[in-house]
Amino acid sequence: MLTKIHHVGVVVHSADEALKFYRDALGLPVTADRIIEDQGVRGVLLQIGNSEIELLEPTRDDTGVAKFLASRGEGMHHICFESDNVDAELEGARAKGLELIDQKPRPGLAGMICFLHPKANHGVLVEFATPLAEGHWPPWPASVSRI
Ligand code: CO
Repeated sequence: MLTKIHHVGVVVHSADEALKFYRDALGLPVTADRIIEDQGVRGVLLQIGNSEIELLEPTRDDTGVAKFLASRGEGMHHICFESDNVDAELEGARAKGLELIDQKPRPGLAGMICFLHPKANHGVLVEFATPLAEGHWPPWPASVSRI
């Protein structure tokens, strides 16, 4: 079941520059700041109530986020809905014939995640996420930094 908007993803040239707005001007606290090597992004999460803003800065040029930035510039990238069962959400979307990007959930900044194709969602890239329980963190290699 979808329970809330977990975060809104924003693509930026420089997370450090964007933090001057989200952290310094708006006063939102940073809850995570990680390089996700296989995705080629630095991801920074900032808390706003019980939702988050996710800043995405490409760390190399051959990724979807880098191509988005090159073609469309900085701005809103995706909306993430939290679910208590990301596997069931993905299977439900598949059963309804929605176009998928991920064929199965994978580890991401927000926990176990998957993406639907924006063609299926009126132009908005949609992510489903099930945060991991405490003690199961982190889902990615220990070489990835976390604050
Ligand atoms: Co996201």
